[in-house]
Amino acid sequence: MALLKSKKAKSANYISGKESRRISKENRKTTDQIEKQRNRRNVPRDEYITQMKDQNNVVEFDDLHTYFFTDIGTVKAVDGVSFNIPQGKTVGVVGESGCGKSVTSLSLMQLVQRPQGQIVSGSIRFNTGDEVYDIAKTPTSEMQKLRGNMVSMIFQEPMTSLNPVFRIGVQVDEVIQLHNKQMSKDEVKVRSIEMLELVGIANSEGVYRMYPHELSGGMRQRVMIAMGLACNPKLIIADEPTTALDVTIQAQILELLRNLKDKINSSIMLITHDLGVIAEMADFVVVMYAGRIVERGTADEIFKNPSHPYTIGLMNSKPAVGKKVDRLYSIPGKVPNPIDMPNYCYFYDRCEKRMDVCKTAYPNEIYLTPTHAVSCYLYHEMKGALENGR
Ligand SMILES: Nc1ncnc2c1ncn2[C@@H]1O[C@H](COP(=O)(O)OP(=O)(O)OP(=O)(O)O)[C@@H](O)[C@H]1O
Ligand SMILES: [Mg+2]
Repeated sequence: MALLKSKKAKSANYISGKESRRISKENRKTTDQIEKQRNRRNVPRDEYITQMKDQNNVVEFDDLHTYFFTDIGTVKAVDGVSFNIPQGKTVGVVGESGCGKSVTSLSLMQLVQRPQGQIVSGSIRFNTGDEVYDIAKTPTSEMQKLRGNMVSMIFQEPMTSLNPVFRIGVQVDEVIQLHNKQMSKDEVKVRSIEMLELVGIANSEGVYRMYPHELSGGMRQRVMIAMGLACNPKLIIADEPTTALDVTIQAQILELLRNLKDKINSSIMLITHDLGVIAEMADFVVVMYAGRIVERGTADEIFKNPSHPYTIGLMNSKPAVGKKVDRLYSIPGKVPNPIDMPNYCYFYDRCEKRMDVCKTAYPNEIYLTPTHAVSCYLYHEMKGALENGR
């Protein structure tokens, strides 16, 4: 009996070598096919040049699916994500670790780890001002021109993005030169120092000659931001830009990002699991859970009227000034295994408000206001009322 039990337990989480080889072979077939399609030469432009649904947006994610084909199964890291980033606005993306925030932004840059990671369907429309590219279909060679000229990424840990063996000046110069090929060496240096000043480094000439290890974490992040801004990007993607910094420096960096955004009139996609940062920075908020969007709306709507039980849980699990509690709330349970997602609401097992209907099919998005959408059966009954009321 005990033997039988252990065998059963094993089979739930275990796949045999044979099974793994079969999956791996199948994966290769799928990824080879996608890669072949992507690496074609002379792809006709009308395959990837498209139109925005709304000209005021810089980016429109439209039913994006990005999967990782691993030897133990397919990880649906992003599974049907749709939202817009309007021009000159900040969109905050929140959610627990592993919910697909970074993979969404990496898909936009075509930087998902290939060949196992692939955009399998959907569109990412990117508005350069002159033309609109569907990044999901843009060939790699074209993408290189877009990347860096139009979009900048600021990462969590600046030390890993700066090269420790070169002086700061050399690294900033390199980026400026790359984007301004006509500039002479002296002009590049002047511009680099200007950029360092722009991001609030007081001793910019001194820092220009320093190595990354001689700077504090906050200064390194400022250098990274300076490099990111060298091309006047239309969109800045900041993936946990302040997580590695202490709170006062964090506030300064956020202030800096906000000022710069207004100066160069770009949009920001701000990824974080810190709701405080979102509240301070974002115009719009997208809440992700297990690869899908469970709720989205303006920052006001999400903070004043959080509607999905997951968003409500997130709000309750952050400390608030003036509210005394014995223990902070934590959402029970954990995110389901990404390889074996249920076909009903992914939050079901952890939800305090679950109903029988929640086990039927994944809930559609319901619009509570024209900008506030939520995927939860709690609001499906209200839908009729809302529609009748309109
Ligand atoms: N190269 C990879 N190969 C396989 N799976 C991956 C790979 N990169 C990411 N994933 C999976 O994709 C899912 C989403 O990951 P992602 O990095 O987007 O999470 P995240 O929301 O950014 O989390 P965090 O807040 O921890 O940064 C996770 O389940 C992760 O395990
Ligand atoms: Mg991440």
